[in-house]
Amino acid sequence: MVLCMELYCFNSENCVDRHAEEDPDRVAIIWERDEPGDTQFITYSQLLESTSRIANVLKREGVKKGDIVAIYMPASPLLAATMLACARIGAIHSVVFAGFSAEALKSRILDASASVVVTADEAVRGGKTIPLKSIVDEAVGGCQCVQRVLVSQRTGAHVPMTPRDLQLEQAMSEVSDSCAPEPLDSEDPLFMLYTSGSTGKPKGILHTQAGYLLYASITQQYVFDYRPGDVYACVADIGWITGHSYVVYGPLCNGATTVLFESIPTYPDPGRYWEMVERLGVRQFYGAPTALRLLLKAGDHHVHKYDRSSLATLGCVGEPLNDEAWVWYHSVVGEGRCTVVDTWWQTETGGISIAPRPSPDDSTPKPGFPMRPFFGIQPVLVDDQGNELHGPNVSGNLCIRHPWPGMARSIYGDHGRFMDTYYRPYPGLYFSGDGARRDGEGHYQITGRVDDVINVKGHRIGTAELESCLDHDPRVAETAVVGFPHDIHGEGIYGYVILKDGVCESDEEVIKGLRNIVRMQIGGFAVPEILMIVPGLPKTRSGKIMRRILRKIAADRHDELGDVSTLADPSVVEKIVQGHTKRN
Ligand code: PRX
Repeated sequence: MVLCMELYCFNSENCVDRHAEEDPDRVAIIWERDEPGDTQFITYSQLLESTSRIANVLKREGVKKGDIVAIYMPASPLLAATMLACARIGAIHSVVFAGFSAEALKSRILDASASVVVTADEAVRGGKTIPLKSIVDEAVGGCQCVQRVLVSQRTGAHVPMTPRDLQLEQAMSEVSDSCAPEPLDSEDPLFMLYTSGSTGKPKGILHTQAGYLLYASITQQYVFDYRPGDVYACVADIGWITGHSYVVYGPLCNGATTVLFESIPTYPDPGRYWEMVERLGVRQFYGAPTALRLLLKAGDHHVHKYDRSSLATLGCVGEPLNDEAWVWYHSVVGEGRCTVVDTWWQTETGGISIAPRPSPDDSTPKPGFPMRPFFGIQPVLVDDQGNELHGPNVSGNLCIRHPWPGMARSIYGDHGRFMDTYYRPYPGLYFSGDGARRDGEGHYQITGRVDDVINVKGHRIGTAELESCLDHDPRVAETAVVGFPHDIHGEGIYGYVILKDGVCESDEEVIKGLRNIVRMQIGGFAVPEILMIVPGLPKTRSGKIMRRILRKIAADRHDELGDVSTLADPSVVEKIVQGHTKRN
């Protein structure tokens, strides 16, 4: 792989041109559209052409090196080509997951001052359409920075166009099919991707050209045991980091055939993944524990119906894979012969950081354990005071010592926050925000977030972000949001809400309104499963909310509340417990 030539770096060339020259008809992307079997095969030479044309359209629209392009598109080859087109001209892409609301999209466009937004008429998922263009219209209404909206066709639905809009495929047909890549420094930004933290608004995590690509490609090759000719399927959405690194950049850099999955695991039925595995001959499959738990519950017959002999590696990411789901994945899906790789990493790490492969010894993967650090990663466990915990059988805050190629370089526009969040808590170390345990054999198991971030279906949601969203309702005096264990989603969201005096609507009406606010401001995936109106919150005498107590109540562990006598008003706990028990 050519990462840097002289001082320069060419990511789209590494992901497309090299392979298009060597083997133009090799399939780069298998686009598995929403309807099973409605599949399109895109070769490396076709990907090169669409990437170059989009790059020329962007240039024609005035996009230059260092400008930010917001992308709000369905899972499609044009989305991948738009990302690569940005990389080709040195623009920074900011993909916003198409499940975010207009309000959330708007705040991300404004934060980045994006001048161009690329979208589609509609998205299709699980037999339903999502009106992307009208969501974009609503979002960009208040964004002065946006000069142009490029609209591609997914369904061909009629969507109203304004003078600011351009039809993407039409524009692509008007420009040249070749575009020389812009020479870039290896440390020039490649993309930003928003993720939630424990405080404040979402952070635009910034990744750079060479280190990110090197790390995404080398991990894709070694962790999944990818070999030339394999059909590799990571079913994550491109709107999250897993899709960036393991649908687009990693596999394409390795010249792989990567499956781009547009649908959902249960459409048209819970056999969808395995039917696709049989039809496409998938060798590596990479999915999310929440989907695996859902499919496990649906019954083994959905798996047994299909031939899975092509499978060799079964990966998962995003949240802990519990023992039952691990064993099911290994024995039922993988027939006991595939390697399960539970991979731990984050938006910030750029690529897989702890995983069973590559293995320096013969030990087989252990259920629930990502196990070993990848090349260049040195995990360190520290206690809350920052003392390093040495040896086996210890638990602590998971940090990483020494830089690695794929690490995030900054938070867009706020390097101070980047340092405060990741590097100041434990000086000299990168702090992940997760807790972990090292067992007797030196293998790592992730114990979950140690900060105020909830992980629902593998999506990170900050409690502070949710609270400030709920606090927008004029009827609300104060809120506290915590996570609770959820059988399928990993965690669920539980919100405790104090109303202002004199609210005359019923609790049900208020709760309905609050759910709607979250749907409008963030997106449907962040709507709390449980919202409870409470008379007060457990606070210390200095006014700090005792979230530990709220978490225990939400998890039905009322008998473990411990000493509450130091609270400003201990009786409030009893009242909350009563309310919780009644609603169950
Ligand atoms: O809490 C960890 C959890 O997901 C978080 C990272 O979320 P995000 O940046 O959205 O990236 C998700 C995909 C890389 C981590 O801080 N997490 C990720 N992988 C695992 C995990 N928790 C347990 N086991 C994993 N394998």
